[in-house]
Amino acid sequence: MKVLAINSSPKMAKGNTAMILIPFLEGMREAGAEVELFYTSKLNIKPCTGEINCWIKTPGECYQKDDMQMLLPKIHEADIMVFATPVYVDGVTGPMKNLIDRMVPLAKPFFELRNGHCRHPLRGEVKSNKVVLVSNCGFWEMDNFEPLLVYMKAYCKNASSEFSGALLRPHGEAMGPMIEMGEHIDDIFKAAKEAGYQLVKEGKMSIDTLKIVGRELLPLEMYIQITNQSLREALNALKK
Ligand SMILES: Cc1cc2nc3c(=O)[nH]c(=O)nc-3n(C[C@H](O)[C@H](O)[C@H](O)COP(=O)(O)O)c2cc1C
Repeated sequence: MKVLAINSSPKMAKGNTAMILIPFLEGMREAGAEVELFYTSKLNIKPCTGEINCWIKTPGECYQKDDMQMLLPKIHEADIMVFATPVYVDGVTGPMKNLIDRMVPLAKPFFELRNGHCRHPLRGEVKSNKVVLVSNCGFWEMDNFEPLLVYMKAYCKNASSEFSGALLRPHGEAMGPMIEMGEHIDDIFKAAKEAGYQLVKEGKMSIDTLKIVGRELLPLEMYIQITNQSLREALNALKK
């Protein structure tokens, strides 16, 4: 089983998204999957310019020569695609959106009716892959992921993919400081690993496991207070 993971956090392996993604991929590897991970920050992926050459002049091929040439065959081959992104203003990061837009050569320009909805047929052998979202955000509430979930589910319908669920870590910025303070939050990372193992071995992730990944780390009021306190300290340190 081939897994292709894309992490679009500019913090890459040092970011909060990676804190959840890395054990999740570890679980998948342990279950026997062949996993490849790419960071958008290390890739050269230009935004789509809307020429649609990839549909008419050079079917299946974009005129822009960059890392999408290497990535498109991997996307086509992947049994599971993992989109890992921090929430940036209620959506995916810019580089992640660029990458997704540049997947258009995988479709044909024609329209077809799929499940009663107007869609583009996929190019080549239609392979229904699974898609997982891994995300974290700064705000405290789980509802901050709602726009992202709506988008990823819509993307899956568009791309004929199966949405397999999401590992969502609200108040993700609390993880690092809590570990430094010696708080025990290991259960979150163990659950992320378990979710990866389950997806490969059983074809799905358990809701209870995903709940642990996103469990409350500290009360809302305390999070606001601690965050504001450390921001004030950082601002005061600059004044000195
Ligand atoms: C440009 C920008 C926009 C952000 N927008 C949101 C947002 O809309 N909602 C939210 O909860 N967090 C938001 N955040 C906070 C990030 O999601 C949070 O810091 C996250 O932990 C970053 O993950 P990373 O370390 O993997 O990059 C934003 C951060 C940045 C830099």
